[in-house]
Formats: sequence, C-alpha cells, structure tokens
Amino acid sequence: MSKFTLGKGNSGWWDGAIGYEVYIRSFADSNGDGIGDLLGLVSKLDYLAWLGVDLVWVSPFYPSPMADFGYDVSNYCDVDPIFGTLEDFDCLVAEVHRLGMRLLIDLVPNHTSSQHEWFVDSRSSIDSDKRGFYHWRDPSQNGGPPNNWVSHFGGSAWTFDELTEQYYLHLFLPEQPDLNWNNPNVVKEFDNILKFWLSRDVDGFRIDVAQGLVKNMLMADNPLRFPLHKDMSPREIFASYDHRYDLDQSGNIEIYQRWRKVADENDALLLGEVYLRDNDPNKVSRYVASKDSLHRAFYFAPMHVPWSPEPMWDTFRDALDAAPEDLSWALSSHDDPRAPTRFGGGKEGKQRALAYSVLLLFLPGLPFIYQGDELGLESILVKPEDQADPVALRNEDGSDGRDGARSPIPWHVGENFGFSTGKPWLPMGDRSEEETVDSQKFDEGSTLFKYKELFQLRAERLDPNSQLKWITSRDSSVIAFTRADIVCAINVGEQSEKLKLGKEMSDIKFSVGDAVVSDGILELGLASAAIIMSGV
Ligand code: NOJ
Repeated sequence: MSKFTLGKGNSGWWDGAIGYEVYIRSFADSNGDGIGDLLGLVSKLDYLAWLGVDLVWVSPFYPSPMADFGYDVSNYCDVDPIFGTLEDFDCLVAEVHRLGMRLLIDLVPNHTSSQHEWFVDSRSSIDSDKRGFYHWRDPSQNGGPPNNWVSHFGGSAWTFDELTEQYYLHLFLPEQPDLNWNNPNVVKEFDNILKFWLSRDVDGFRIDVAQGLVKNMLMADNPLRFPLHKDMSPREIFASYDHRYDLDQSGNIEIYQRWRKVADENDALLLGEVYLRDNDPNKVSRYVASKDSLHRAFYFAPMHVPWSPEPMWDTFRDALDAAPEDLSWALSSHDDPRAPTRFGGGKEGKQRALAYSVLLLFLPGLPFIYQGDELGLESILVKPEDQADPVALRNEDGSDGRDGARSPIPWHVGENFGFSTGKPWLPMGDRSEEETVDSQKFDEGSTLFKYKELFQLRAERLDPNSQLKWITSRDSSVIAFTRADIVCAINVGEQSEKLKLGKEMSDIKFSVGDAVVSDGILELGLASAAIIMSGV
C-alpha cells in the first residue's frame, strides 16, 4: 500500500492502491469439484500479497442458480455451497486483512435471480406483496413487449409470463429480472444487505451495473442512434440505441448518496461499474463529481481502446479532463478479451499489454488488473461444445462469448495446471510451463516479476496526490506525462521515437521493451514504456 496520505473528498485508504480482480470460479479450487472457491482463494492470498496487491475484488459468491455464473443472486446474505460457507468467507476476510490487503465484494443490485424468493413471490400473482419489487407491464397494443428496450445479452429486454399475462423487464437474461428501485422496500432491503456485509468486515463494494438501477417509469421507447442490421452482435445492437430511458437516470446517484453515508461510517469503498456504451467520461464523472456519491467509478474506454496513438490520447485526456482523480480502470476483466489478445496476441501483444499497464498504473486513477494479467495470459479459444457463457449460448456464432477470458489460472505444471484435481469447469487451453505461476515466480525475467517490480515502484515512488502534466500532445505517438518528479512515457506508434527530457532525467526506474536515456533524450523502441526519475 502506498505510504502517501491524502485529503478528503473521495479519498481514502484506496488512494494509491492497486486492485486485483478475482473471478472466483476460475482462480483456485480447494475441493476438487472443478470450480474455484473461497478456500481456494484463501490458499493463494500470500501470492497476491507477495505480488504487491492492495485490494482484492472478488466476483459474486452468493447462492445462485448460476445462469450468469453468480451475477444472478438468489440470496444476498449467504454463500453458495459451490464456493463454500459463511465461515469460509469470514476466514477470507480475516486472512486478507492479516496480510495487509483489503477486500471488495461484488454487489449485484440491478437484478436478482428469477429464483430469488422476491421474484418467485412477485411472479405468483398480480396482487403479490412483492409484485412492485420488479417491473411488470401489460403487453403493448399489438400484444408484443411494452417497449423496444433490448437486453445486453441479445433479444428483447421483456419476457412474457403466462401466469399473469404480463411482461417483466430484464436488461440481461430472463433469469435476471430487474429490480424496481423506485420501490422504497427494495431500497430498504439493500440497506440491510450492505450492513450485513459491512458487519462481516468487508472493505467495500464493486457495484454491478451501477448505471442501470433506476429506470424511467414512463418506459418510453429508446431512440435508435444507428440503423440495425441482421449481422450485429448483441453488444452492437445494444450500443445502437440511445439508452435515454433505461440507463444512467439521475435517481441512481441518490441511491449512492444514501449508501455513501453507511460506507463512510465504515471506512468502506463504493466503486461503481458505470458501463455506458457511448463511453462518455462526462457522464461517468457525474457518479463521482459531487463527492458524496460513489468514491470511484470504473471507466471502460481504456479496456477497449485499440493500440493506436490517437484513440489512446483521446481516451485518457478526455477521461482525466472529466474526472481528474476519481476514475478506476482495468487492464482486462472477466467480461472482455484479455489485454495481450486485444493488442494483437503473441509476444507483441504481451509486450504491449505490459507497456500499457505502466500507463494505467501511473496515471491518476485506481487501477485493477484481472487474475492472470500478471502472467501475461492471453484469452484461450473455447470450442463451441465447451462454451458455458450464456451470452455465447444464446447467440448463434458465440462471437460475444466471455469464456476465453475466464479460463482457470495455471498455477503449476501437472494435473489441470494445479487449478483443481477435478475436471475444470472451463477448458484450460494449451498453456505452456512458462505461463504458470510457479515457473514465473522463480524467473526474475518473467512477466510476473515485471508486474511485481512495477507495483513496488508505484507504491514507493508515486504520490497519488501529485498533479499530472502532459509533456507530449495528440500529434505524437508517445504518450508522456510527469507527476511530481516522475516521467512516464509509452510509445504506441509504428516506429522508434525520441523524447527530450531535462538532462537530470537520467535514471530509468522501470522499462518495457527498448528504452534508453542519454543526455536527457529518451529513446523508445516499438511498444516500449519507461518510468524515469532524476538521477541527481
Ligand atoms: C457485469 C458483470 O461484470 C457481468 O459479468 C454480468 O454478466 C453483468 N454485469 C450482469 O450482472
């Protein structure tokens, strides 16, 4: 953890922290059922502490029918037996803290599982006490869905229920009905859920679909931004609409203001997944701007930007103009292709991902890496017959499937790469020995060691309070800036580049690829990055 202390606003122990996402199903399995679990994670915490992680975000572990692998919660205050027990959870919190780290759990407030008792009750009758917990509407005049809203995962966002002859809303799967956040009883239920986990000592929440909780109750059609055509993937279709009525409603912020009071009393972090398809940082920044709502908001453009100077420039300059301090970003996640794959794959893709991490880690912001990023892992190819992600299964060509990034972690050579003694729930691909944790842990030239070194440098040298000053501009393929006495530079272009620094800037503290400094001139080879400090 950083040694620097900060002021107020949205600040807290998370300033200067480095986050690590654990996708629990694929991290480490303690009981041989082929699925990662809480005790598996406990057994690897010393590895995360060794790496220099400050903050562990663990994906949902609550009881769930697993239609969306845990993002369909049927009981918010327990642990699914696949993942362990509440006692295992307590043990996880205690161990995380003993090792000097913090634990963020994943709260899923936009929707429940269709098997949650609230929905079972709600569905049973129009007069159910819980009917108003969800969005039920009569069919439109032509008998179809009440409006044109679409699900992120393909098809209409409405499912007709024969029993009561009404439609219910689900922005994701039909097995994930959306809660009605205009209902004060839903609000009260979540107050209790937050308190339940805070009393078990969690350090905060990653809030799933933070942009989506409140809906405009008029439920008008969303305008189309681009014409639809039949070859579009669900993501493309979703992005073709202006989500004027289903996402990013102002009422969301009132909910976070309410939660913020409880979070602050408990010194807990509220980090929202603010996934707006148009990636407008000004909209994302509203969730953190008032300093009494979310402490941090995930901004997704950095996880999708191509390896190309201009889009990268625009992404970071616009983001930092909109919210200079309070954004969070990730190198990869369980929802998207891994960074080395996204950046072209192979040796080049790996080097680019590592160079890009230098940028993500030294810009102002709360950075996360996703399990396996530190090993330079690429996404794997999952054959159609092995696919598990409902997004792939619902959509014929499987092109939007997320399984490739969810393949389990290779710990060491041997049976299932040490992930499990049982058949892993997803294939592990043809990983090589060099990709395993055990091999990289003993090789000081490995990607793992590079990440460890980078984390350490950031913790020791980067003052998270320090102001950023760009030292190159959009017409350059080197993105470079200073923060206090540090220069950070990355070459995203097609050729080697030179950058003039002050003569005293002679000490390269960390580099990726070819980076040399002499006489105050920094020379950066292809896909290289460097952190430079004064040698005086
Ligand atoms: C975002 C999560 O990261 C993703 O995995 C999930 O499918 C959706 N939210 C719905 O909960």
